Amino acid sequence: MKGIILAGGSGSRLYPLTSIVSKQLQPIYNKPMIYYPLSLLMLSGITDILLISTPHDIPHFQKLFAGSEKLGINLSFKIQEQPNGLAEAFILGEEFIGDDDVTMILGDNLFYGNFQVFRDACAAQTKKENGHNARVFAYHVNDPQRYGVVEFDSSTGKAISIEEKPTNPKSNFAIPGLYIFDNTATKRAKEITPSVRGEIEITELIKSYLEEGSLEVHTLNRGLAWLDSGTPSSLLEASAFIGAIEQRQGIKVACLEEIAYRTKLISPEQFKELIETIPKSEYREYLEIILREETL
Ligand code: TTP
Repeated sequence: MKGIILAGGSGSRLYPLTSIVSKQLQPIYNKPMIYYPLSLLMLSGITDILLISTPHDIPHFQKLFAGSEKLGINLSFKIQEQPNGLAEAFILGEEFIGDDDVTMILGDNLFYGNFQVFRDACAAQTKKENGHNARVFAYHVNDPQRYGVVEFDSSTGKAISIEEKPTNPKSNFAIPGLYIFDNTATKRAKEITPSVRGEIEITELIKSYLEEGSLEVHTLNRGLAWLDSGTPSSLLEASAFIGAIEQRQGIKVACLEEIAYRTKLISPEQFKELIETIPKSEYREYLEIILREETL
């Protein structure tokens, strides 16, 4: 399973914050936003990852993740010249995806909770369980108009329709920015006609699987938090949310070095060497405690 993080776009709703620094590099409490989707991929067992962003921002990501091999992952980079839509990621990633399945996550989507559902979905995808070649998730939200919305058949519970930002949503179930597809996603994306807003819509790609009966929609329960951080208020809320959990527990969320160590992507010796490259800070002290005591 390959992984893609799509971290381009214009971030216009966060202007002027985004006039120099991209949305996905903005802080969520104490880490750049991109750490959260990257941590989800790592925790789902995905280590071969392509990060796609704008010509302006790719150098920043390259700088941030210089030495990412020390996290036990293989991170590569690709430019998206224009924000031509989410599904363009599968065209840009054609060579990278090759013959594999691919999980794409948006660089501004933050999940918190038990990630077993994502690990299970990846495993089911690899086995093409139930003849399904694509998997997306459904999450109950208050404001479905802002998202792709999935409608379920009331008797069978099966997904029957998907609409992008509908004025009159058929349900409260939004599709979060996390998608698992087989490698036909590239071919399908190439066949999509750009929408009136000029984007190759991910909804169209999802629909192509739905229409042939090969889409599985996994409903995420209320025990899992899915936060969006595209507006000033949602950015603040996401920071407060992560801050509250970290301060209460004394355990970090989306700490990439810790995840690399705990998931055994790196050995204790490599973890120790990695810590030595980090400036003296509360972040480093946290990692030193993990290495020393393994109490958490
Ligand atoms: P959006 O939040 O829909 O768009 P945006 O980030 O450009 O923000 P705004 O609406 O405030 O202008 O995009 C969702 C995610 O997808 C976000 O992480 C940016 C990314 N994206 C791309 O990387 N390329 C694209 O072509 C598009 C449309 C979005």
